[in-house]
Order: sequence, then structure tokens, then C-alpha cells
Amino acid sequence: MSAISIRTLQAMKDKGQKFSVLTAYDATFAQLAADAGVESLLVGDSLGNVIQGQTSTVPVTLEEMVYHTAAVARGNARAERPALIMTDLPFMTYGDVATGVESARAVMQAGAHMVKVEGDDWLVPLVENLARQGVPVCAHLGLTPQAVNKMGGYRVQGRDEDKADAMVKHSVALAEAGADIILLECVPSPLAKRITEAVKVPVVGIGAGSDTDAQVLVCYDMLGLNTQHVPKFVKNYMTEGRSVAEALKAYADEVRDGVFPGPEHGFEA
Ligand code: KIV
Ligand code: NA
Repeated sequence: MSAISIRTLQAMKDKGQKFSVLTAYDATFAQLAADAGVESLLVGDSLGNVIQGQTSTVPVTLEEMVYHTAAVARGNARAERPALIMTDLPFMTYGDVATGVESARAVMQAGAHMVKVEGDDWLVPLVENLARQGVPVCAHLGLTPQAVNKMGGYRVQGRDEDKADAMVKHSVALAEAGADIILLECVPSPLAKRITEAVKVPVVGIGAGSDTDAQVLVCYDMLGLNTQHVPKFVKNYMTEGRSVAEALKAYADEVRDGVFPGPEHGFEA
């Protein structure tokens, strides 16, 4: 089977088919997740939390993202149907267009197929530039963990009407600038639905309800390995005596079938 590309994911949105995204930080999990049917692997800077034991993603460096991307790319290449690899540009490595372009070059040359950046419409010039250079971009809005110090903690975003309207506007602007995916973290389910209907490109949600085109989770969370605070939007798939491979497949199947997330995993307006 041919590898998943951004065209595959766009076609899935256009046909109303849901797809799953899962974080991966190493070759073994990358191959397992791709073989389980997960369409996209996110080399997330959440590796700062789950691999390094940091309390936020702020300490993660570009060199670390390059190292993990290369490992994930090797494992993914062994899968029967390789997934689309998306890599986070880490904290303060894309504050201006030239810096962002250089950071994107590093992770793309390590094996990413797409870069992910956190922010709102201030990212438009970077997204336009990367699109012109042939680099797909995922724009991450809502709860943006790299900004935890400015947000004053991890909380649901877009609850005020003004903030919600702005998030819709910014998502549309980013998609029009050339972003190929919009990712929404911890936003009320009705707002995520509004954005999913407003943009042509696929919308991936985490803590954003069941109406987005796709879902993402941190793999250690859905394998029940989180020893810290377990967010409300997480579902543990290591139940019913499943193996890790079976748990990953159950996740991919439940997202595809619209079983996960349930109403209990989302946030009200
Ligand atoms: O780094 C990460 O794992 C992420 C997801 C939570 C979306 O950005
Ligand atoms: Na991230």
C-alpha cells in the first residue's frame, strides 16, 4: 500500500472519513502505530514531558526533535503502509520567518513530511513561505503548550465568544495561507465543530470533541502509562488483555468508526 500523504488526508476529509494521529518518538512505536492503521505519526515536543521528564515542552531543542524524527522515520519506513510524519518545531525556533525556515529544513531533512507550529494568525507569513518552498504545515491553535507560562497553566481555550470568533478567523487565515492541517487542543466541542466546517483542510482535535476530522493522542497516555495528571480527553486502550499492538489498532479503529472520542472526553462551551 502506498504511503499516506497530505493528499490522502485531504481526500479523507472530503469523503467524510475520520483518521487517527498518534505521537511517536522512536522507531519501534512508529512501525507499530503505522502497522496498526494510524494515518499520521506526530513527533511531538511532548517528548519533553514523557521521554525527558520535563514539566513542560519549553526545554525541548531542535536537535532533540531532529534525533527523534530520524528514529521515527526509520521505523515508519519498515511499516507496510508508512504514515505521514509530522514534527513539532520546538519552543522559540520559529519566531521569525528566517528562523522558522531553518528549523523546518532541519526536521524535514531528518525525515518529517510536515512541520507543526503553535500560534494563531501571526504564523501566516511563515506558513506562506513554507508552502511556497514545498513544506506542508500543521497549525496548532487553542491550548498551545509552548505558551504555558503566558497562559498561566493548561486550560481550555476559546470559551469567551470573542476568543472563539478569533480562533475561527485565525484558523481560516492559516488554511488560506497554505496550512494543510489545523490542530485544535482543548477547545469546547461546539467551537471545534465550527472550525472544522469553516476550513477546507482537515482538522485534528485533542480534547476538542468528536466533530473534528481526526483525533490525536499522546501514545503513552492511551497506553495507560501516564503516572502524572491524566487529562479528561484521554482514553486508556490497554484494557481487555490487549497487547500494545492491539491497543494501537483499537485506537485507530475507534477513531475511524467515530467511537472515540465520546462526549465524556470533550469540553462544553
Ligand atoms: O507534542 C504533542 O504531543 C502535541 C499533541 C498533544 C497535539 O503537540
Ligand atoms: Na507539541
